[in-house]
Amino acid sequence: MIITIDGPAGSGKSTVARKLAARLEVAYLDTGAMYRAVAYAGLLRQTDLSSEAACGALVRALRIELDFGPTYARIRVDGHDVSEAIRTIRVSAATSEVARHPAVRTFLVKMQRSEGDRLKSFVTEGRDQGSVVFPNADVKFVLNASAEKRAERRLQQLLVDGEDVTLEQVRENITQRDSIDAIQWQSLLEPGAAHIIDTTTMSISEVLDRLMEHV
Ligand code: DC
Repeated sequence: MIITIDGPAGSGKSTVARKLAARLEVAYLDTGAMYRAVAYAGLLRQTDLSSEAACGALVRALRIELDFGPTYARIRVDGHDVSEAIRTIRVSAATSEVARHPAVRTFLVKMQRSEGDRLKSFVTEGRDQGSVVFPNADVKFVLNASAEKRAERRLQQLLVDGEDVTLEQVRENITQRDSIDAIQWQSLLEPGAAHIIDTTTMSISEVLDRLMEHV
């Protein structure tokens, strides 16, 4: 069974995707981590992130290893585990830029499909999973929430991770990323394309229960 969860940053996708995968005892595919890993490596190597050619060459040169299970999602780049290092606000901003390039997307989409072939049953989370990568998925969700609520959630997450950021900075980061990222999942808002869930006033367990009903 393939379940896709798409939507903007801070909509609660990652948290519920993990919980749903654990509940169903299937792997959780964190596709955002793949884009983040490329951006992280690009920052380290001082790659010109605005250049499609440079980012395309970068993604092809990296050795990306995925280890996605029901209760964990680890990612290694050239032998280094970067699963935590890719979560900073600096990497988030760089990732939006990297993820815009078709050369990067084509490469990572191929990698996601081959990982999907290997895993067979999984919950996958990103921006284009139900629309582009796994259009034949069994159940598709779009999670959304108000921009203010999403900024608050991201801020909490970043503070827990030890980052020194303000709500204003997170708001700006989210607004910027929204305008770049939204194009990937807009087609899922067509009637009947996916189950659309607004999580603004819902708790994690309420969202999870709603998802389970549809599954
Ligand atoms: O879900 P996330 O915040 O970890 O995603 C990080 C960035 O990667 C975000 O800017 C959108 C982009 N992304 C994408 O373009 N396509 C995906 N399938 C997943 C993430």
